[in-house]
Amino acid sequence: MKFDTPAGQNPIDQLRVVGKPTHRIDGPLKVTGTAPYAYEHHDVAPNAAYGFIVGAAIAKGRITSMDLKYAKAAPGVLAIVTAADAGPLGKGKFNTAKLLGGPEVDHYHQAIAIVVAETFEQARHAASLITVQYARAEGRFDLAAAKDDAGPSEPSATVGDFDQAYAAAPVKLDATYTTPDHSHAMMEPYATVAAWEGDQLTVWTSNQMIDWGRTDLATTLGIPAEKVRMVSPYIGGGFGGKLFLRSEAVMAALGARAAKRPVKVAMPRPFSINNTTHRPATIQLIRLGATPDGKITAFAHESWSGDQPGGGPEVAVQQSRLLYAGANRLIRTRLAVLDLPEGNAMRAPGEAPGMMALEIAMDEMAEKLGMDPVEFRIVNDTQVDPENPSRKFSQRQLVECLRQGAERFGWNRRNAKPGSVRDGRWLVGMGMAAAFRNNMNFTSGARVRLGDDGMVTVETDMTDIGTGSYTIIAQTAAEMMGVDLDRVVVRLGDSNFPVSSGSGGQFGANSSTSGVYAACVKLREAVAQRLGFNASEATFADGQVRSGNRSVALADAAKAGEIVAEDRMEWGDLEKTYQQSTFGAHFVEAAVDMATGETRIRRMLAVAAAGRILNPISARSQMIGAMTMGVGGALMEELAVDKRFGFFVNHDLAGYEVPVHADIPHLEVVFLDETDPIVSPMKAKGIGELGLCGVGAAVANAIYNATGVRVRDYPITLDKYL
Ligand code: MOS
Repeated sequence: MKFDTPAGQNPIDQLRVVGKPTHRIDGPLKVTGTAPYAYEHHDVAPNAAYGFIVGAAIAKGRITSMDLKYAKAAPGVLAIVTAADAGPLGKGKFNTAKLLGGPEVDHYHQAIAIVVAETFEQARHAASLITVQYARAEGRFDLAAAKDDAGPSEPSATVGDFDQAYAAAPVKLDATYTTPDHSHAMMEPYATVAAWEGDQLTVWTSNQMIDWGRTDLATTLGIPAEKVRMVSPYIGGGFGGKLFLRSEAVMAALGARAAKRPVKVAMPRPFSINNTTHRPATIQLIRLGATPDGKITAFAHESWSGDQPGGGPEVAVQQSRLLYAGANRLIRTRLAVLDLPEGNAMRAPGEAPGMMALEIAMDEMAEKLGMDPVEFRIVNDTQVDPENPSRKFSQRQLVECLRQGAERFGWNRRNAKPGSVRDGRWLVGMGMAAAFRNNMNFTSGARVRLGDDGMVTVETDMTDIGTGSYTIIAQTAAEMMGVDLDRVVVRLGDSNFPVSSGSGGQFGANSSTSGVYAACVKLREAVAQRLGFNASEATFADGQVRSGNRSVALADAAKAGEIVAEDRMEWGDLEKTYQQSTFGAHFVEAAVDMATGETRIRRMLAVAAAGRILNPISARSQMIGAMTMGVGGALMEELAVDKRFGFFVNHDLAGYEVPVHADIPHLEVVFLDETDPIVSPMKAKGIGELGLCGVGAAVANAIYNATGVRVRDYPITLDKYL
């Protein structure tokens, strides 16, 4: 099915199941510990051996020798695979550095060997007996030092004459902001169980994008994609870190081939942070010029980031192209080559650090203008793409989010003078920021079966990374087929199922449910045909199929045999004609201890406009999870770079700090009642990344309002108040 005209009324609009607060259907499996995560597929590989990955101990250079003798002789060892004996390996589309390094080493902890043994302990012990000699080369590890050598990258854009408009602007801001390298730090480690049957490989793994992962694994191993089955039914968080194939899946497959046994590999957390990807650090220069009444006349956002050779930038300027009006604009991206572990997508990639900078800049500019920061944003709202005014937004309720947020939060009680509100030894302040993230739609397929028992089974390779995909897909199928939720079975995360959008970029919810919608439209037609009903007149509700004065129980429709339908949703030009985006507003109250600089978040509110909310419970969970992550980015999260040896020093959760319950106050979330018929038949958009965009700056702005100290270098740790 192709979506190329705005959605009219359709069965989803009945909202009998869709849109209702629904607890996740996979919840009981998860809280009873019976949902199998990647490392827990004991049943499928009962005789599995254990693999332990050896990582490079230098960041750049060459392996000059590897002595495997003692490791091979160690108890329980079944096989050792290095680049020297792995055979030719291809490179997948989605990884930058090789997933098995050697003899060249591209980054610290790049995989250089796997040891397979009868037990995990034996594999780990044998790995410790491998001695590696290196010829270390000079590497580039410091973004600030590499900044001047950074080359032009995309996106870049100019509109009007920024330099002239900026020079002429009566009120100006010129400020530089920095964000550090971030780690996804998801709960479930990277893990894979690999098993070969002849030339057929099955991997049980933890991956957000089954089709990408399967294809890249096949490319890496040099085998046809049909020879690889990838299974990932439950995922303990990904945040973009599991969008792509990572080394543990490749190493498990190579280890299993060499050992002629299924092999299980889990990356220890202290290994994964330098072995896998991270969100790259940024340096961002923002220059704003405005008239005294607060109209932006000159807008420039430039960003610098670094990555491995052949990698890409952290696109921190993306949101700035569309968020505020302003006739003269300059958008510039610069990319430096660094030899740190490879950078890649982490939740709201580009948008999150970009908004962390932009929304402080907006706060600073409002102060220079003597304007309320909410009003300053409202004055500069745009209903069209500022770079291409003929392009409209499909929906844009930023102003409504800002106004409603200000009202609900009690923004009028804020004292605009920084450092002026005290509560005992605490300095208290309020801050806010806009939230803004684009909506993407990816082709997504599904198969739906109506069984002779009346059960509706959905199969798609869509993943659930903790977001609630199982539940919204079940809601969609229940709504379409007119049955209760408990009549629907959802099977996800298997490359034997139709290719879906996968989970990422907040495209998963709308895309995958639209694919299920398409398959259900076909199933309804097939059911009507089976019953001899006119498909265009048949209605599906209360477990009945009705047409004219005839009514048949859906369960009876398939008595003569299961009815199966498969389709996918593809998107036409509407996405190009209309800018599809999601909007919101974040409000934060923070308190800073006058003596110690300890910072506590007291209250947070987010108002979001993101199309139809398919499930208010799981959507709220996405928002509060993102807001929590935003507090982490504002106050704690930072990978510390060792600029001599080129690795992240705090490569575990003891040193890489993320918020815990005690750090997070009550979080309030409000969704505007919105449907977006330009987006899909679901009229829904993504929410998972919107919730993160702007939070960091709202915290920073609240801290400034509390203390009068403007910190432009994240995270805002207490030493920076001095
Ligand atoms: Mo997201 S960073 O596309 O999982």
